[in-house]
Amino acid sequence: MYNRRKFIRATAFSLGAGLTAAQAASATATSNTNTDINGIESKPSGQPLKNTAAIISPVVISTWDAGLEANKAAWTILTNEGRALDAVERGVMVTEESLNCCVGLGANPDRDGIVTLDACIMDEAFNCGAVAFLERIKHPICVARRVMEKTPHVMLVGEGAQQFAQAEGFTLEPKVLSKTAQASYEEWLKRSNYRSPRINIENQKGHGPFAPAKLPNGEWNHDTIGMLALDMFGHLSGSCTTSGAGFKMRGRVGDSPIIGAGLYVDNEVGACVATGQGEDVIRVAGASMVVEAMRQGRSPEAACQALIERVIRIKKEKAKDIQVAFLALDNKGNTGAYAIHPGFSYALRSATEEKLIVAKSYFT
Ligand code: GLY
Repeated sequence: MYNRRKFIRATAFSLGAGLTAAQAASATATSNTNTDINGIESKPSGQPLKNTAAIISPVVISTWDAGLEANKAAWTILTNEGRALDAVERGVMVTEESLNCCVGLGANPDRDGIVTLDACIMDEAFNCGAVAFLERIKHPICVARRVMEKTPHVMLVGEGAQQFAQAEGFTLEPKVLSKTAQASYEEWLKRSNYRSPRINIENQKGHGPFAPAKLPNGEWNHDTIGMLALDMFGHLSGSCTTSGAGFKMRGRVGDSPIIGAGLYVDNEVGACVATGQGEDVIRVAGASMVVEAMRQGRSPEAACQALIERVIRIKKEKAKDIQVAFLALDNKGNTGAYAIHPGFSYALRSATEEKLIVAKSYFT
């Protein structure tokens, strides 16, 4: 079994050739055991689908500039016979533990000064898990995966999610803000002007719910990290994690932990993840509708564009004030994205490329 998998990898990478459907299906059959990245044995999250794809060269994409670093971690897994599910979990953990405004415990708090985190994950066989309104846990994406694998449920929130995380061995981190978040919060408190989020547009002007615009390391900020991967066995998976809108109302949850809105994966077609103003992603069931648009024959970019145009039709004039972007990957490894406003980019890693791609947008 081991040798056969090695052979398949060698074929895919050194000869640059695709697998035959029979080889891919056979490889799929060998990939159905699972020790998760925390070293804890868990049952397989689902029976892999019978794979019919002929070319299985791994790809990973993720939202915003931070995706470049996150992709590196995912790529290591993808090129070592790993599952897309493990890759998308490990990849976004990099962003969760980095200092940034909008993902992980170092991010901006809600208007009561508390960081609350949302995340979800989905594999190739419609298994999915999510957490929302979760406090003091460093890696919400790992808790989302445990919800998927260890409970009969899809989503746990708030105190219940935290209790579950602790029962699963996750450490409760101190209830303190990062230095950057503390400074941003104190600045925000001077005005305390709560209003609905105007994501990303204002980031680039240095204020707004996802401020600060520029991080100490010079990177532009972002509101979410969403990641999609296709592994060498032809399996798609996706992950999404965020602290949501900075200085949000206590209890506010956006699209990021909502399966079908912030993330959706259907291995027969493709996968999609959303970023930007969550309320406007939820109202169009964004990610799942992008996947449906791909099912009807649209390319990943055209499918993302179709949903952005739907958001704009619904929001009318107000569309000028919001940013939403969709990022999609089909089951053949084609990628695409589309945003309402300029400024959204995504990171791509494949056997031949490692780069940031600027997405097209409705407004220019
Ligand atoms: N897209 C992130 C949020 O709205 O919370």
